[in-house]
Amino acid sequence: MDFLTDAFLVDPETFDGPVLVTGAGGCIGAWVLAILTRSSVPVVAFDLRDDRRRPSLMLGEEGAAALTWETGDIADARRLTEVAERHGIRSIIHLAGLQVPFCKANPAAGARVNVEGTINVLEIARHAGLKRIAYASSSAVHGMPPGGPVLATLYGAYKLANEYTAKVFWLDWGVPSVGIRPNVVYGVARDQGMSASFTVAIAKAVLGEAYEIPFNGPISWLYGGEAASAFIGAVRRDGDEAHVFDLNGGSETIENGLKILSELEPDHGISISGQPLAIPHDLDDEPIRAHLGDLPSISPRHGIEQTHRAFQMLRSQDRLTATA
Ligand SMILES: NC(=O)c1ccc[n+]([C@@H]2O[C@H](COP(=O)([O-])OP(=O)(O)OC[C@H]3O[C@@H](n4cnc5c(N)ncnc54)[C@H](O)[C@@H]3O)[C@@H](O)[C@H]2O)c1
Repeated sequence: MDFLTDAFLVDPETFDGPVLVTGAGGCIGAWVLAILTRSSVPVVAFDLRDDRRRPSLMLGEEGAAALTWETGDIADARRLTEVAERHGIRSIIHLAGLQVPFCKANPAAGARVNVEGTINVLEIARHAGLKRIAYASSSAVHGMPPGGPVLATLYGAYKLANEYTAKVFWLDWGVPSVGIRPNVVYGVARDQGMSASFTVAIAKAVLGEAYEIPFNGPISWLYGGEAASAFIGAVRRDGDEAHVFDLNGGSETIENGLKILSELEPDHGISISGQPLAIPHDLDDEPIRAHLGDLPSISPRHGIEQTHRAFQMLRSQDRLTATA
């Protein structure tokens, strides 16, 4: 599966020590681990569980088994600090979080993980003098304040709290950080959340199963490798502020995405229903591109083709599942 990460490899000399990746077992985490490992950058994975299923989709079972993996709760400051100190961590890519439905189902747990967890990361940076911190905010912050065209969610409120928290850590203690607001991520390892539907559709098409995508119209197409590259790029040099950037990727309709998939799988059983998602689809990537300098760009066509090819390979190994 090296073809998935070839376009995103980085120079290990641009890192000043091991990178801690929180939420490493998630979709973006799997891409970050795969890119850093293949680039020979020392990396420590941190997640609630030792579940390497997603990283193994890209690194293979053996590659994933060889990862340095620590389990712990991001809300447990003592455990996180112990892990960071023991491994001599120099940068943190903080991805651990609960997504929209989980925050809605359990608001207090959502705040503990998404808000307190991010505070714990910033506290480690403050006390250890770390200058390379990237954390996942979300395009959901555009739903704040509530009442506008973009869906307002507790998840968005918590992510916005993270952005302001990071700002104050910079103002009060000089802790630099880069907050990145990914829009809709797609590609290998994207398997949960409503906006995962197009990736699920590609998997279903490869498996020969029918599936209905529950929304239509334009969406953002942020390829997993693009999202991971932005987080990696943000810790390749010392920070100088508490930055926050949108990260959109491409903008294309679900209908045109399905046309591309139809060229690859003419006999698929995929259909589209519902309304457009109440989230922006064309946020401006120029500021993050200007900040990072060399962020790879993947068109929806190329991303769909790569994902389809990967899913075909996984299916031939009996390792392809499709959930959402
Ligand atoms: N995927 C997207 O489209 C998208 C869009 C915008 C923002 N984001 C944000 O980017 C980050 C990564 O997204 P993703 O798609 O990889 O998410 P994901 O849900 O696939 O993975 C999140 C990971 O965090 C871990 N985690 C949850 N609670 C934890 C805890 N208490 N302690 C330690 N680990 C915990 C989970 O086990 C999981 O492996 C998240 O913060 C998410 O909110 C994602």
